[in-house]
Amino acid sequence: MSGSPKRVAVFGAGYVGLVTGACFADLGHTVVIRDVLADRVEALQRGEIPIYEPGVADRISANTERLTFTTSVTEAIDGADFVYVAVGTPPTYSGDADLSAVWTVIDELPAIDKACVVVMKSTVPVGTGMKVRHRLDERGLTRVGYASNPEFTAEGTAVKDFLHPDRIVVGSFREEDGDAVVALHGGIDGPVVRCDVASAEMIKLAANAALMTRISFINEIANVCEATGADVVRVAEGIGLDRRIGPSFLRAGIGFGGSCFPKDSLALKQLAANSGYHFQLLNAVIEVNDLQKRRVIGKLHRHLGSLRDKRVALLGLAFKPHTDDMREAPSLVLAGRLLAEGADVRAWDPIVDGRDLHGVEIAASPEAAADGADAVVIVTEWPELTTVDWASVAASMRTPVLIDGRNLLDPALMQAAGLQYEGIGRAAESPEG
Ligand code: UDX
Ligand code: UDX
Repeated sequence: MSGSPKRVAVFGAGYVGLVTGACFADLGHTVVIRDVLADRVEALQRGEIPIYEPGVADRISANTERLTFTTSVTEAIDGADFVYVAVGTPPTYSGDADLSAVWTVIDELPAIDKACVVVMKSTVPVGTGMKVRHRLDERGLTRVGYASNPEFTAEGTAVKDFLHPDRIVVGSFREEDGDAVVALHGGIDGPVVRCDVASAEMIKLAANAALMTRISFINEIANVCEATGADVVRVAEGIGLDRRIGPSFLRAGIGFGGSCFPKDSLALKQLAANSGYHFQLLNAVIEVNDLQKRRVIGKLHRHLGSLRDKRVALLGLAFKPHTDDMREAPSLVLAGRLLAEGADVRAWDPIVDGRDLHGVEIAASPEAAADGADAVVIVTEWPELTTVDWASVAASMRTPVLIDGRNLLDPALMQAAGLQYEGIGRAAESPEG
């Protein structure tokens, strides 16, 4: 690493806190991760990792002498140069972000007699940093600096995204606090964006909103493709080659989910509304996404008529592949709708155990989920699904309908395998065959 090793306290041992702590330890810093959940901390102390995120377990076990876990605030803070805040900020009923966990962390900080910087990793509304600054000052913690260093790590590739970022954003009130946070990232190659705290907070919200806008855009193009006979996969390829547009985040499907996009879109919508601005485009992005999940039900109706007593297999439950995260997963909406319509729902996922999905039977394999089904829906594009023997799956189904919610499979091959295949935004086979 370049720069001297520092002591970093990370509050929150969730997806973001664990990735942040493990990566800073990997860079040579001494890290203490603190969480309120004693069970979680004890499991981590035994070397058990409570989340599925590629690369995290390896980094934790490779850095045990520099990386420890505790429930104690005093232990975490002892000698810390940086206090990273990585607790959750879920939406409240109003759509505003719930900052209670953030305030708990700030209020729990003891009197700190050495220079250190509180760094906000959690996604927070614009203006939060200023409020935290005031609160620290009111408590006499004037020597404690403050910086915003938002995360842009996607689940499934979070370690890679942290260590090889597109950019590192650091917003601070004082120049020296920002300098210190940048130096902490020594050893990571990537452009650094330095700015004020409010702009750093907005960069995070705006980046997510831009990505969500692209997804809802391509999903609407897909819906028009379906109505007009075009193929959205070819269309995305064709527009993505325009350097001004670029190819990423143009995969049409059944909509976005996850721990960030749905909550951050609501938080930005509310932030704008609370400031008297109606964010029309973002409202449309959210609405398109809600409707997109339900279009699958319409497709099933077209193939099967009433769904009462029909058996539908959902393949993939996590909101995207390579994670066990079910937060705002489209599978939850689909399972709920299907059960409400009287369907018999079976599901498979390679990582998620599905215990919490009441009324859904969990199958051990995609083949077992599809056996005797009236329709199969690909909800999450797990790579395992590309090696399934679809011809034998078709033969085992009551009616061989396959709705590919992620355009994972080749339509011609699926039709050759005997399936009535329908993707999203691609020339659909008519229910009549
Ligand atoms: C994060 C962010 O912090 C959120 O703002 C961002 O937008 C998405 O990712 P994440 O790490 O995914 O959240 O959340 P989660 O996996 O729920 O972890 C949060 C952890 O903080 C939990 O382990 C929880 O026990 C802990 N926590 C919560 C505390 O330690 N203290 C509290 O007061 C509250
Ligand atoms: C996202 C951001 O990418 C990351 O920068 C931020 O820090 C947290 O939120 P994440 O939610 O982990 O990361 O996953 P991401 O890969 O961005 O996918 C989000 C959702 O969008 C998934 O449900 C995915 O299926 C969907 N998606 C993504 C599409 O439907 N089409 C696409 O082209 C890309």
